[in-house]
Amino acid sequence: MRTVHVNAASKSYDVLIGKNAVLALGEEAKKVCPGALKALIVSETNVAGLYLDTVTAQLEDAGFEVIDYVFEAGEQNKNINEIAGMWNKMAEAGFTRTDFVVGLGGGVTTDMAGFAASTFLRGIKVIQLPTSLLAMVDASVGGKTGIDIPMGKNQVGAFWQPSLVLEDTSFLKTLPDEVFTEGMGEVTKHAFIMDLALFDKLEKANGNIRDDEDLLEEIVFMNVSDKASVVGEDETDNGRRQTLNFGHTVGHVIERDSGFTKPHGICVAKGMGIVIDACVRAGTLEAEEAEKMKNLLKLYKLPTEDDITPEAIVEGAMNDKKKRGDTLSVILVNKIGRAEIRKMNKEEFLKFLSV
Ligand SMILES: NC(=O)c1ccc[n+]([C@@H]2O[C@H](COP(=O)([O-])OP(=O)(O)OC[C@H]3O[C@@H](n4cnc5c(N)ncnc54)[C@H](O)[C@@H]3O)[C@@H](O)[C@H]2O)c1
Ligand SMILES: [Zn+2]
Repeated sequence: MRTVHVNAASKSYDVLIGKNAVLALGEEAKKVCPGALKALIVSETNVAGLYLDTVTAQLEDAGFEVIDYVFEAGEQNKNINEIAGMWNKMAEAGFTRTDFVVGLGGGVTTDMAGFAASTFLRGIKVIQLPTSLLAMVDASVGGKTGIDIPMGKNQVGAFWQPSLVLEDTSFLKTLPDEVFTEGMGEVTKHAFIMDLALFDKLEKANGNIRDDEDLLEEIVFMNVSDKASVVGEDETDNGRRQTLNFGHTVGHVIERDSGFTKPHGICVAKGMGIVIDACVRAGTLEAEEAEKMKNLLKLYKLPTEDDITPEAIVEGAMNDKKKRGDTLSVILVNKIGRAEIRKMNKEEFLKFLSV
């Protein structure tokens, strides 16, 4: 098993990564939640059917009283009603401030489990057990938790770091192909903005990383290390953490325009493709590097373009929650593995995107 230590300003914790990592859950939970008697496992219908029994048994064997809250899988259920269901369940079971929540699922689940934990009794501990590639490399690490409201995704939430993240890479075997591909959007993003070694590894693997368990574990580890280093420097998104937004300003607009029917990772890939082209036109990135980056996206079955107009992107981006005042922080890439944050106003952003 591999360990990444996350040293965020508010809390430090371990991310344990490996095949069958779930078998360590009971013992590790006792270490990070001393005095706890009860655990609430938050999961959703798809994942619970596969892994809830295993996870429950791990915790029960370690002596915890275990209850669960299983919601219908899907982003449309990432809302306050489900959170209220979790709060009520914990209250009815007599949870105290030393008890804890376990998030078992993809990013929808880990975001919601974290948010429920951050608010119940003004904050109890959460252990994350991500089951999708996206949740392993991104959502479960770094402490951003939250829910969607009708006006937008992730508009309500809290920074609430987990006490432990346990990433069992064997769980990825049951992930549908298209969901795995979506996760590759964030994986390639890490390679582009900060990790040339990861880029090289992905390029060398030639699009085949799913079937090689050791390689997959190593790739997850590299991504978690990347995310941890950024979060360690800037937990609350005021500086370097913004570079993780590469492709996202544009991607979010595409995602919102589709009424959230297009998956996040796919929209981010399109956003990255559009920004990569814009970087070449703006002279911050060499055409040859841009070509290599777009080829990597294609290698992992991700799109690199969209027919959205620059005007529509700018209009949509000006309503984004990441905007501060009248300017946007646009993430550019200068070369593979190096990103830059550039503040742009509406006119500058339109010029940057226009062919
Ligand atoms: N907190 C953060 O920093 C952060 C970062 C990125 C994304 N997110 C959030 O993450 C969410 C997207 O995450 P996601 O792509 O994991 O979505 P998801 O949780 O909806 O999971 C995707 C699909 O895969 C299924 N699934 C998950 N694990 C499985 C497994 N092991 N076997 C079989 N099926 C499995 C789920 O049931 C679902 O149908 C979004 O809500 C996004 O806002 C949060
Ligand atoms: Zn993302």
